[in-house]
Amino acid sequence: MSKVFIIGANGKVGKNLVNVLNEKKEHDVAVGLRKEEQFSYFEDKGVQPIHLNLEDDIETITEAIKGFDVVVFTAGSGGHTGPDKTLMIDLDGAAKAVEASEKNAVKQFIMVSSIDSDRRDYWKPESMKPYFIAKHYADRILKESKLNYTILRPGVLSDEKGTGKITTDPSGSETSRIPREDVARVIDASIGNEKAYRKIVTLLEGDTPIETLYK
Ligand SMILES: NC(=O)c1ccc[n+]([C@@H]2O[C@H](COP(=O)([O-])OP(=O)(O)OC[C@H]3O[C@@H](n4cnc5c(N)ncnc54)[C@H](OP(=O)(O)O)[C@@H]3O)[C@@H](O)[C@H]2O)c1
Repeated sequence: MSKVFIIGANGKVGKNLVNVLNEKKEHDVAVGLRKEEQFSYFEDKGVQPIHLNLEDDIETITEAIKGFDVVVFTAGSGGHTGPDKTLMIDLDGAAKAVEASEKNAVKQFIMVSSIDSDRRDYWKPESMKPYFIAKHYADRILKESKLNYTILRPGVLSDEKGTGKITTDPSGSETSRIPREDVARVIDASIGNEKAYRKIVTLLEGDTPIETLYK
């Protein structure tokens, strides 16, 4: 059993993850939320909400993360905001979460990044560049930290039902998509799993059962 803290839990991947973790009840789960009105949804599921805004200072974020073994970062400013918020949340927010996790000697940090964040040639269209830049440097900061990282790089996220199967090889894939439920199941398979430490994994829908990913 791990003590797991989810940043971005109120998002679509985050809510899928809470449901997956709740099915199994293997871990002690808490969620970081930035609005009081989001608390009751999670309390009703038996999950502890903790106030966390990624625009807060590192000391405040460090206090929020205290006592957890695993931090999952699945926050993002979303497509409706400008590049300023992308930098503040997807890059600086992630960097602060990494620093706060180091200060708390967290055992594992699982980052939901993006496909192609390490391939500049694929940073298209132009309007998406700030997003890819933020994901790229957030991943780099995490890789250069002392933390056992697991960096997941999903393709375009969909709300379709998960299949429980993925591929990690985009070159052999006919799709650029993956259901959020399957991303949540990969996060679940990564939590507390030493075989997932210091791994970077691209995720698309495919034929490989998720339970064999780290075998
Ligand atoms: N969309 C895609 O196709 C795609 C592809 C690859 C990777 N990704 C990445 O996958 C991750 C999860 O995606 P998703 O669809 O689940 O995203 P989402 O539904 O937009 O959820 C993002 C979460 O981040 C939270 N957040 C934003 N600003 C915050 C702040 N200042 N402090 C704390 N939390 C904050 C939001 O909180 P509120 O609920 O309070 O707004 C929301 O719960 C994101 O990092 C995204 O960039 C997306």
